[in-house]
Amino acid sequence: MYSEKFQKSLAAVEAARDKNVAMEPVRMTAQQKTDLLAAYHPDYRQDQFEELKIGPNKGNKVPKELAAILQAHSRITADSVDLENPDYDVDVLVIGGGGAGSSAAIEAHEAGANVMIVTKLRIGDANTMMAEGGIQAADKPNDSPAIHFVDAFGGGHFAAKRELLQKLVCDAPEAIKWLSELGVEFDKAEDGTMITTHGGGTSRKRMHAAKDYSGAEIMRTLRDEVFNRGIPVVDFTAAIELILDENGNAAGAVLMNMETKELMVAKAKTVIISTGGAGRMHYQGFPTSNHYGATADGLVLGYRVGAKLLYAETLQYHPTGAAYPEQIFGALVTEKVRSLGAKLVNVNGEVFMHPLETRDVTAASIIRECSDRNNGVETDDGLAVWLDTPMIEKIGGEGTIEKRIPAMMRMFGQFGIDIRKEPILVYPTLHYQNGGLDITPDGMTTNIKNLFVAGEAVGGIHGKNRLMGNSLLDIIVFGRIAGKSAGATYKNVNVGKLTLDHIAKFEKEIADAGIETETVSPKLLPDYARKVNG
Ligand code: FUM
Repeated sequence: MYSEKFQKSLAAVEAARDKNVAMEPVRMTAQQKTDLLAAYHPDYRQDQFEELKIGPNKGNKVPKELAAILQAHSRITADSVDLENPDYDVDVLVIGGGGAGSSAAIEAHEAGANVMIVTKLRIGDANTMMAEGGIQAADKPNDSPAIHFVDAFGGGHFAAKRELLQKLVCDAPEAIKWLSELGVEFDKAEDGTMITTHGGGTSRKRMHAAKDYSGAEIMRTLRDEVFNRGIPVVDFTAAIELILDENGNAAGAVLMNMETKELMVAKAKTVIISTGGAGRMHYQGFPTSNHYGATADGLVLGYRVGAKLLYAETLQYHPTGAAYPEQIFGALVTEKVRSLGAKLVNVNGEVFMHPLETRDVTAASIIRECSDRNNGVETDDGLAVWLDTPMIEKIGGEGTIEKRIPAMMRMFGQFGIDIRKEPILVYPTLHYQNGGLDITPDGMTTNIKNLFVAGEAVGGIHGKNRLMGNSLLDIIVFGRIAGKSAGATYKNVNVGKLTLDHIAKFEKEIADAGIETETVSPKLLPDYARKVNG
């Protein structure tokens, strides 16, 4: 249901539809992509980045908003808690209750560890739950982990840590099997084989999905498994500071009850950070597809104790965030819509790019279409392009949308837009943190012993741009790896005297660097409250 102002453009899109369905857009050359990214991708806007003055990544540039919370004060001082009398004492402390944390907890439990999950919201309040399009795994006869590696390595600008990416692609088929055995209902053909599709930058159809609520289906299953095993989950409780022992090894965390603000101490032989992404930081003012708690907490916790970051300057702007209506501004429109045949079309009804270029290239191309080329559609919130969803039914036959992407149909249907008959308006939305804490292939940080990381808080798996479906995959693969590694490591750990000395040390660094700030971190939740004058 579009108002009068969209009708002229809509008519152009409709008139061109049959021609657009039949056309095969050309792929960009490598040089064209490089030039496009440099000119239009938000990661290249130098004035939006700041050099870190302190910490292990001193001298590296990160988004301004991230720099502010990385170089901020702790929420506590060392004397605010009693380290001698911990409230919890566990073998494996998992911080974060999304897909990575749950996978880690399950594997640590399987290894015999006394494991506990703490989460600032509830288990499953995570980007995993909001993932739609699918999970990649090379498990068909025409595919292989090597081909998957080549796709992802190229898509990430040849910057991925090879040993991490190798783990990701080689463990992928087993990850699908593990999930299936736990109860995930992947889409299957009548003969029982998995239905797989392409994503941007894939040379084989290897996207396994549960319609377009793949993440919710995976999270449902993992959460059930955590509950079935009786793994304790302390919810509405945030980790606000890591605790080290006198040897400089990770040894627990200070926790804060989100409602009462009560502080608690969790002592642990090993700690796993699985706190997810950063969309709610709204870098460069972008809207986000992320869940409410995505505020880069793990990066702050790790950085303050000295853990290194890798590629924290690279973010993923999903090309197709909903741009209209405003109630769903920034919400994810899954790439699967394009996998099923919908093309991106400008205000004049012209296809302006191949719809399955990699995400950074697609986002940059949409931004160019709406800026310099002046071919965007004007909405109340800015400019956008059309994603011509009715093409899907023309290609796949009537009923394809309802069967394959029912969540999309429902999301727009609530606002009177029938995506089977009308196109939708999209613009890039902040979706994923490509960078994060630097780890070795066993999931431990490269420089803090007994501190493991899994999921979106890790940097380097995907290089500088991630392909669709490799995030649901990495939370499972590296969640399981972190859980297994921590579940083996704790058996040989003798925790020394607990300390929070790093807080004062970091404060001194802030002062010595002349940083003047009132910011405290981790941020924990976004601040959307309206400021009332006076
Ligand atoms: O477009 C999507 O469904 C998102 C998938 C992903 O980020 O991997």
